Amino acid sequence: MERALGHVLSFTVDLLLLTTLKTTAVDAHFQALKAAGRVTKVFIDWHSYSQLILAPWSYSSAAELPAESENQLAAAAAMAAAMNSTNSVAGGYIHGPSARLLYEASGASNDYGFASTPAATYTYVVELRDTGEYGFVLPADQILPSGEESYDGVIALLDYVINNDYD
Ligand SMILES: *[C@@H]1O[C@H](CO)[C@@H](O)[C@H](O)[C@H]1NC(C)=O
Repeated sequence: MERALGHVLSFTVDLLLLTTLKTTAVDAHFQALKAAGRVTKVFIDWHSYSQLILAPWSYSSAAELPAESENQLAAAAAMAAAMNSTNSVAGGYIHGPSARLLYEASGASNDYGFASTPAATYTYVVELRDTGEYGFVLPADQILPSGEESYDGVIALLDYVINNDYD
């Protein structure tokens, strides 16, 4: 799992400080939604690579999981099951609380999406294909299958949210 470390650290530092143009723009977008009275339910930060669906918390493996964790993890399981079955990708997609599954990283986007401006219940960092053979340089013939399974994963996630989180 160390193979993703450099990448994870670069975005965690960005989000912690909100200093770069990209993270400032993302935060401004969610501030505007909030000001307009819009509720953000799902927040996903897509990355490569490692085939992981990472829920809060990222900052600590010892911190008590949020009350919403049960729903977050059940939705992540539905997403992982769908992403596993679409193309039966080698290794599958593993889900869990980020710091417990991977390592602690403060200021990560899944924590930001949950505990900061977006205040979404369902917030994840999804690490796409692969598990390290090609890493960041995924062969072109895996791009479409990666998109297919991601699409199916999002549909399964939204199904979970619609069926479990709305009256
Ligand atoms: C997805 O596949 C991986 C690898 O086989 C497995 O460990 C994991 O439990 C699967 N996830 C779900 C929700 O079925």
